[in-house]
Amino acid sequence: MAGPHIYDAIILGAGGAGLMCAAVAGQRGRRVLVVDHAEEPGKKILISGGGRCNFTNLGTAPDRFLSANPHFARSALSRYGPRDFLDLVERHHIAWHEKTLGQLFCDGSARQIVAMLLDECAGGAVTLHLGSTIRDVTHDGSSFTVAYGDRIATAAALVVATGGPSIPKIGATGFAYDLGRRFGLKIVEPRPALVPLTLPQDDALFHALSGVAAPVVAHAGGASFAEAALFTHRGLSGPAILQVSSYWRHGNPVAIDFLPGHSSWLIDAKRTRPRATLQSVLSGALPDRLASALAERLALPGALDEQRDATLREIERKLSNWEFHPNGTEGFAKAEVTVGGVSTDGLSSKTMAARHLPGLYFIGEAVDVTGWLGGYNFQWAWASGWAAAQTI
Ligand code: FDA
Repeated sequence: MAGPHIYDAIILGAGGAGLMCAAVAGQRGRRVLVVDHAEEPGKKILISGGGRCNFTNLGTAPDRFLSANPHFARSALSRYGPRDFLDLVERHHIAWHEKTLGQLFCDGSARQIVAMLLDECAGGAVTLHLGSTIRDVTHDGSSFTVAYGDRIATAAALVVATGGPSIPKIGATGFAYDLGRRFGLKIVEPRPALVPLTLPQDDALFHALSGVAAPVVAHAGGASFAEAALFTHRGLSGPAILQVSSYWRHGNPVAIDFLPGHSSWLIDAKRTRPRATLQSVLSGALPDRLASALAERLALPGALDEQRDATLREIERKLSNWEFHPNGTEGFAKAEVTVGGVSTDGLSSKTMAARHLPGLYFIGEAVDVTGWLGGYNFQWAWASGWAAAQTI
């Protein structure tokens, strides 16, 4: 067999983080190899943002990321921000728009983002090896050797950019965690995040609302999000729920304010519409099916003027803090991201290198840094990839 191919850096994973890191390092003159077991690079980019890739968020700030170390993401995000990525997008003449809440999307297709990254990689003479199973990774004290497909390559730097286990059907694995453990790094327990929550059968009333959406404020684990919630046949989804799912823990409730910004609305309605029922008042503010499901649960007999103010206040309170008790999530099969991953304790926030083994880097979703819904996760992929690329 021929001897190993020699590179300056081998990057495992041709997703957003790996491609960004490869392109930047390649353009800095490094000889870079990227290896991925998928036949196509950037598969998650392609399916992201409904095919239009929500590639960054103008509101990017460290407090919009979950991590056991909330400060870890600060350095990389401050050195490569949304504007830097947007400059790249504009240099490639990709038309974009802000949809809502600082979320930037392609006007055309997510394919343009993958094409842009591949173009940048080509500009750095990066070698891309797709459809290659990674058979072995070893370190001999000075360099890493990777056996992939029927080849072997060696490099002083190894960058692990294989992401997290969300959406296994498109090739996601926990490979980064296995490799991290093997090289002595801790793993923060991975959990599915940005994922729909499931409700037990005794919430059947709500299962019947499948397809109904309403703007709410959802609260879980100390976090709150004012966005739409959607009832599904299995439980709860929609942006507000996906957001709180990252903070939710088994056994804890998710509280929903169905009428955010409304105060004393039922007491007011008693004065202005004394003969109205709870359901008719609710129907003025919420989708009909949701209004009747909530009214059925609250079981208030008669018209508003037959009720004591204290009873109406209690109903207002319940509707602003309606507790659901999810019995789980829809799991990694449906999760947009994974919370947890390679612990930041063992990594440099400046370079993303393992403290005890300089030369070994972890970037992107593989690391215990998880963004909110809305382009934050790609911004982390770009920023962490860029940070590692400065030193490999
Ligand atoms: P990523 O998972 O992208 O790449 C990892 C690469 O490693 C893959 O190419 C994979 O094939 C490869 N790999 C894995 N295991 C391997 C192994 N054992 N051997 C070899 N190769 C291996 N974020 C956002 O900011 N805006 C958005 O619009 C969306 N939308 C969205 C929609 C959907 C449906 C999902 C599932 C996710 C999103 N996300 C998102 C999240 C975003 O896609 C995600 O955070 C990034 O893609 C993470 O980038 P990475 O490069 O770290 O991993």
